[in-house]
Amino acid sequence: MQAVKDRGLIKISSYIDGQWCNSGTTFDVTNPANGEVVAQVFNAGVDETEIAVLAAKKALVAWSKLSANERAVILRNWFDLMMAHQDDLGRILTLEQGKPLTEAKGEIAYGASFIDWFAEEGKRVYGDTVPAPSSDKRMLLIKQPVGVVASITPWNFPNAMIARKAAAALAAGCTFVVRPSPLTPLSALAMAELAERAGVPAGVFNVVVGEDAVNMGKVLTQHPAVSKFTFTGSTAVGKILMSQTTTTVKKISMELGGNAPFIVFNDADLDAAVQGAVASKYRNTGQTCICTNRILVQQDIAQAFTDKFITAVANLKMGNGFKEGVNLGPMITSQAVDRVHRLVEETIAAGAKLVAGGQRSIEGENFYEPTILTEVTNDMPLASNEIFGPVTPIIMFNTEAEAIEIANDTEYGLAAYFYSRDIGRVWRMAEALEYGVVGINEGLISNAAAPFGGVKHSGNGREGSKYGLDDYMEIKYICMGGLHN
Ligand code: SIN
Repeated sequence: MQAVKDRGLIKISSYIDGQWCNSGTTFDVTNPANGEVVAQVFNAGVDETEIAVLAAKKALVAWSKLSANERAVILRNWFDLMMAHQDDLGRILTLEQGKPLTEAKGEIAYGASFIDWFAEEGKRVYGDTVPAPSSDKRMLLIKQPVGVVASITPWNFPNAMIARKAAAALAAGCTFVVRPSPLTPLSALAMAELAERAGVPAGVFNVVVGEDAVNMGKVLTQHPAVSKFTFTGSTAVGKILMSQTTTTVKKISMELGGNAPFIVFNDADLDAAVQGAVASKYRNTGQTCICTNRILVQQDIAQAFTDKFITAVANLKMGNGFKEGVNLGPMITSQAVDRVHRLVEETIAAGAKLVAGGQRSIEGENFYEPTILTEVTNDMPLASNEIFGPVTPIIMFNTEAEAIEIANDTEYGLAAYFYSRDIGRVWRMAEALEYGVVGINEGLISNAAAPFGGVKHSGNGREGSKYGLDDYMEIKYICMGGLHN
């Protein structure tokens, strides 16, 4: 932590109702690049989670009554502070998550952009007047904050996934409790410190860090004071959490797993497609929900594309995220490496050909070589599972219809990409792909102005964009009658 200049950003306890709660036992937060203990963090549990929910409930009254402008000033302060501390926040993020420092600082700017976006968007929560069916009535629709929002966020974006949810919730007038992944709690706690400095009142933004995922999750999904639950993580865990929310009929939004196809047609600009595929596949060492999971390439250009792709991937530099020039960091744990390696072995056993990588890297226990397999079919383990690692299976297809069929043959529906310069095909493909987000001739698609979210088993709700606030608001219909004189 020596390189972090503002030592006040290094926090090791939950932030509840404006207080740092230093008590109980601790757990280790380790650097995935070398296994070193980065910090020992107090292990909050069910009791602290309940206290945080009640604090958020108490704070809701005053926060929801502020004007959108008043909330925007505070959110804007938070944005400014995050950007002023981008370097420190990036360093904390690289230490606990592993991604290269440049990418980590990029995540801080990405996370902060949601705060900036929603600070403004909160001022544009318009209602409606609706023509009434009879002349003695008037009908109005207003939007109101849903209430206390509880959330569980993942380790792959320890800052941005919190910012994307919290900014929308706070701008809408809701209060917020987050349980970040215990693998990466320090980024969340640094955000809480900056929220406090920005003037976010006590109880409005609470962070509970602890290892008891099951029981803390039950409080967040079932507590009667929580009105809305939001989660980013795997589809398997999301389904369990969703089912827990039903007893108290919570509003939910779920950003779950993906199996993104990246389709390259024979009319594509091959160099642009290679560049897009590398950017999309190897961002965060393949550990994002919208990372390319399968490349689908048309048969007559398959060899040319694959050769260029192998060369581009060979140029990536793997290592500790603090080293100059590194663009691939470690995976989050050695169990994650084991899982990815198992998928590679099973796919080779099913008939695929390994053309690059295929083993742990000499960089250390949590590093896996960027790996490419050809002669893959869509039923093989690497194509049918979400990989979440630096491994690319390449599938060949002949026709557009076949590409659509393969691309949609998955339970997931988060992001898809395709490269083509045929304008007719571009429209047909964009409409035919059963995904919430489609990148056309573009591998990097995330930003605060865009609605992010999936269909099918990839979840529901949208984060970011002008639609992102709706997930944190209820529409109230007001009918005024008796207007005849
Ligand atoms: C995710 O992996 O869940 C988020 C990716 C993004 O926001 O681009």
